[in-house]
Amino acid sequence: MATDTPKQSADLVVVANRLPVDRTVNPDGSVEWRRSPGGLVTAIQPVMRDNDGAWLGWSGGTEGETEPFVDDGLTLVPVPLSEQEIAEFYEGFSNSTLWPLYHDVVAKPEFHREWFDSYETVNQRFAQKAAEVAAEGAMVWVHDYQLQLVPAMLRALRPDLRIGFFLHIPFPPTELFQQLPWRRRLLEGLLGADLVGFQRPGAAANFVRLVRQRVGHKTHRDTVYLPDGRRVEAGAFPISIDSHGLEELARSESVQSRAKEIRGQLGNPRWLLLGVDRLDYTKGIYARLRAYSELLNDGALDVEDAVFVQVATPSRERVEQYRRLRDDIDRLVGRINGDLGRIGRPAISYLHTSYPREEMAALYQAADVMVITPLRDGMNLVAKEYVACRFQDDGALVLSEFAGAADELRQAYLVNPYDINGMKGAILEALTASPKEKGRRMRAMRKSVAENDVKAWASEYLRVLSETEPMHDKHVRSSERR
Ligand code: ADP
Ligand code: G6P
Repeated sequence: MATDTPKQSADLVVVANRLPVDRTVNPDGSVEWRRSPGGLVTAIQPVMRDNDGAWLGWSGGTEGETEPFVDDGLTLVPVPLSEQEIAEFYEGFSNSTLWPLYHDVVAKPEFHREWFDSYETVNQRFAQKAAEVAAEGAMVWVHDYQLQLVPAMLRALRPDLRIGFFLHIPFPPTELFQQLPWRRRLLEGLLGADLVGFQRPGAAANFVRLVRQRVGHKTHRDTVYLPDGRRVEAGAFPISIDSHGLEELARSESVQSRAKEIRGQLGNPRWLLLGVDRLDYTKGIYARLRAYSELLNDGALDVEDAVFVQVATPSRERVEQYRRLRDDIDRLVGRINGDLGRIGRPAISYLHTSYPREEMAALYQAADVMVITPLRDGMNLVAKEYVACRFQDDGALVLSEFAGAADELRQAYLVNPYDINGMKGAILEALTASPKEKGRRMRAMRKSVAENDVKAWASEYLRVLSETEPMHDKHVRSSERR
């Protein structure tokens, strides 16, 4: 329901580190709100459009306390972060400790006590704000690794609420999680929720095992039994996209003609390969581009016939490992184009920017093969977006086995992103498969993405959450019995 006045209290409250829009101050001092990066926002935005709720999150800046406001019909409640909190809570504990640790230590996590202190302070602020905004008995849905302490903090403030938590990224194997000096605090934080959701069943099982081992609670299958009689459910809820909306966009005349135009601007190559990622070291961009350059070097492909378009959204640019990645990719692309490109025919067309949805749909439409090779990824929505856009049942998807999306998109050309020869083979196979074979694979994947869209994901999660038994119901019922 669109409105111009922010809600004072809401029956559904989403709590995420990011608001769907990011406050950017232009060089002339003017303020602009842009769409925030990443898959969390892509998934939650259409869900919130259908539900009349409020969304709490950080605006991306340091503007201090600001009032709730309405953007595109959604009530947004900004939670401020100071410059130091951005360094310690966001860039530090969230993105230099938890992010690499939860992604199979693809990069080395750093452990600093003052970062955790800041994480605690900021989580408490989010919990406090959520407690102020949630209506009596409301559902509060807390999202992702930046806010794992919020469920318990919020429960302490507002025992009447039904609290859900969903982790968008992988949950690590127990051996890795044990490295965290604050492991018990994080588990106890999550146990404040009635339902803890993960992308994959293995993650839910890891969580329950850790709770049994580290916190000592009784568990049975995916249920944790707390000493006070409360129960916490864990479960897998693979996230998705607004597949129908995206397909509709892809079918539009403007996207169709833009797709043709993109191919034309690239010299109408026989083959257009595409990579689209946040510029993140978990995405396997370096090895992917190396594999492609070897195909050119070996003579299996030629720059007269083929071009690789790599789009990389700027991300977490002040974190050292991200800075280094950017330099590494810049250097690699420069070297490959210098060695293998010809005039008007670059081997790789590299775009370090983010685009509106229409342009993304046109890129997906223009690409013959989409190459997605993360070393580890909770889901990877780009894979599902590509599939949703291929309404002619053509195109092919090369996909890492280590992306959550590989569980559902079994008909992709699945690869081990650490195996360069394997990736080269899969890219060639995907390019040269017959239209019949491509059609068979794409149809099956499209069916899966159409049937399991983000609305189905959210309604399943909220249904399970609404069926959990909150503590206050128990108290009410036991006092009624007396
Ligand atoms: P992550 O959440 O780790 O960034 P996902 O693949 O799950 O990875 O989600 C990325 C989201 O960001 C997708 O919705 C995708 O369309 C969007 N996105 C990625 N790159 C760009 C870009 N260059 N411009 C605009 N949107 C992008
Ligand atoms: C991933 C995370 C999100 C995060 C997004 C963008 O999708 O799961 O929680 O918001 O990346 O990262 P950023 O650090 O810019 O918020």
